Amino acid sequence: MPPTAMSIDSSTPSNHAASSNQAKSVPGAGINPLTGAAQGSYEMPWVEKYRPQVLSHVVGNHETIERLKVIAKEGNMPHIIISGPPGIGKTTSILCLARELLGPAYKEAVTELNASDDRGIDVVRNKIKMFAQKKVTLPSGRHKIVILDEADNMTPAAQQALRRTMELYANTTRFAFACNLSSKIIEPIQSRCSVLRYGKLSDKELLKRLEEVCAFEKVEYTLEGLEALIFTSEGDMRQALNNLQSTHAGFGLVTADNVFKVCDQPHPLYIQKCIDHCLKAEIEEAVKVIEELWGMGYAAVDVVGTLFKVVRGHTGMPEVAKLNYIREIGFVHMRILEGNSSLIQMTGLIARLCQLMMNAKDFQFKAVNCPTA
Ligand SMILES: Nc1ncnc2c1ncn2[C@@H]1O[C@H](COP(=O)(O)OP(=O)(O)OP(=O)(O)O)[C@@H](O)[C@H]1O
Ligand SMILES: [Mg+2]
Repeated sequence: MPPTAMSIDSSTPSNHAASSNQAKSVPGAGINPLTGAAQGSYEMPWVEKYRPQVLSHVVGNHETIERLKVIAKEGNMPHIIISGPPGIGKTTSILCLARELLGPAYKEAVTELNASDDRGIDVVRNKIKMFAQKKVTLPSGRHKIVILDEADNMTPAAQQALRRTMELYANTTRFAFACNLSSKIIEPIQSRCSVLRYGKLSDKELLKRLEEVCAFEKVEYTLEGLEALIFTSEGDMRQALNNLQSTHAGFGLVTADNVFKVCDQPHPLYIQKCIDHCLKAEIEEAVKVIEELWGMGYAAVDVVGTLFKVVRGHTGMPEVAKLNYIREIGFVHMRILEGNSSLIQMTGLIARLCQLMMNAKDFQFKAVNCPTA
């Protein structure tokens, strides 16, 4: 079982085929209960099919979502920046907020620009300014909204050009930025906005959503399969849903083995075996596991990534050893990202992990054993 932080009651693989009753019990025919939207009849990627359309269906980050719900109800939206890692609902929340604030006027009163659009200084000067000047009749407390998605890759010059526009047209137009790194948004824009930070979704939140989607799509799964999805996606709902759909499409049944095959990541049980050998300073056996994984063609970065996740979730090792292991794994991760991803690098890591568990006196230089000149 992949060692995730989450504990699930059942330890034996149980098959939870979604019963047709669950699917039939969907309330409000034609309305998807996970998103609040009308269901399309054609096949869509599940990430889009299950993209929430109203704030109350967005999972996780409760406090922030609650604040957005208050804004949606009362209007007078401030300029906002939502920042956080990928796939956790930033774009979705902004779209939900705009939809709830503007209702039928959404089409006319919202403009969305993302990284795929040209957002150079000319666009800011022309397109955004023109939109800000446009007259749209809205109820009081409602404003036109400019959504700048993936704003962290707008050039600083284009961001500078927004400063005055944001102020001049603030009585009619509000700005909503979504980005991964708020530090890439220039200070003057940050100071004009409320900055909301989203965190990764918890294992529990991911599990609940995955179970709901499985029930809805009638996917057969084992709990270990869902745990594996959570383990590989690391709090990223988009990745979890994509991997679920790929595993279902490729294998039918969603089990841990099938998920790791689809994600092309080494099975944590293998890695666990390797760590357990390291903890006993059994270097030969530990290296053998790494060589096997190497032989299977796994990339060094994936092996090291899984090593980190397994050590982090390891419940049976002393805290000090865990800290030292994570430090060593971190150094090797850095070297791999710099391009040094050889088997020797990996073997060196294993040697250090074993050495950490050995007694320092085993390494003392013994002059008596030294051949004399
Ligand atoms: N909090 C969430 N609740 C429910 N579904 C979610 C959530 N977060 C992400 N998803 C799913 O993942 C998909 C992508 O989410 P979204 O576009 O909001 O990610 P993002 O945070 O904007 O990521 P990026 O930084 O890559 O732009 C959604 O269509 C939805 O299916
Ligand atoms: Mg986004």
